[in-house]
Amino acid sequence: EPEVIRDKEAMRRWSRGMRSQGKTIGLVPTMGFLHDGHLSLVRQSLTLSDVTVVSIYVNPGQFSPTEDLSTYPSDFSGDLAKLAAVSSSGSVIAVFNPKNLYDYDGGRNKKTISGGGRGGGGKVVSCVEEGGLGHETWVRVERLEKGLCGKSRPVFFRGVATIVTKLFNIVEPDVAMFGKKDYQQWRLIKRMVRDLDFGIEIVGSDIAREKDGLAMSSRNVHLSAEDRQRALSISRSLAMAKASAEQGQTSCKELKNMIISELVGAAGRIDYVEIVDQETLQGVEDIKSGVVVCVAAWFGTVRLIDNIEINVT
Ligand code: PAJ
Repeated sequence: EPEVIRDKEAMRRWSRGMRSQGKTIGLVPTMGFLHDGHLSLVRQSLTLSDVTVVSIYVNPGQFSPTEDLSTYPSDFSGDLAKLAAVSSSGSVIAVFNPKNLYDYDGGRNKKTISGGGRGGGGKVVSCVEEGGLGHETWVRVERLEKGLCGKSRPVFFRGVATIVTKLFNIVEPDVAMFGKKDYQQWRLIKRMVRDLDFGIEIVGSDIAREKDGLAMSSRNVHLSAEDRQRALSISRSLAMAKASAEQGQTSCKELKNMIISELVGAAGRIDYVEIVDQETLQGVEDIKSGVVVCVAAWFGTVRLIDNIEINVT
């Protein structure tokens, strides 16, 4: 089984020890409950670097008080077993599983942190305003954090950018792996690394899907059998839109309508259907260059996201 490191100073010592032996370090940040999507990132990291750190940490800073932090699934021993199965002989995996990355005083200040969210008056409440004396520094990627998922989750991406920065500073990796399943997250981290001169290569990895097309997600376990079936409308509609674009349909309005008509009746609620430039994530009206079609929709209590890249040749 992989070595488990729970203390951030020990983590930094481990990395620096590896570095001093001339080894390159890959980081795969996760929130645990690992599935084949996560494991494909781990495998890719093992091919790109000498040693791999998989962080397992459910980051309270990226959940708003109304979101599913308390029901986020976990299975730490299962995760370790899956990682043990992935690591072939000779490959080194360490698991970084800190207890609380926002505790700076050994628990003397018992205030909890959440990313904040829309309070009663509709204003965004941060942990600082809630009276926390601990953490008050946030990393924000100002334009990229606003569109797509940022609209319904206004504090999500600052929480992600902040925790990923903390993980980069603790683990000091050479390479870090992100899934294109969370396309906006991947683009935002790439932009943050460029803008803030992190010396870390960011690799985007293809979406791992179940056999029937559903994008793998830790949250899929919360789908009822019926909603699990209805959720297939997402990947189906994305594939249809891609096929239509490849047959010459360039109107994003038409393509979006096609997706919406597949989702209506299947999803409880559609959060968004958008077609955006792959790099800037700005909306596109006519497909001329590489775009990504992004969908977020609710099935029961679960909000699912998925996307598909369309490259024009
Ligand atoms: P989590 O949802 O656990 O995902 C960890 C990584 O696995 C992310 O880079 C995500 O894009 C990738 N991933 C998830 N499902 C995937 C799939 N079906 N195919 C390919 N990759 C997939 O994303 C987070 O955690 C957090 O926001 C984190 C980056 C760890 C910061 O807290």
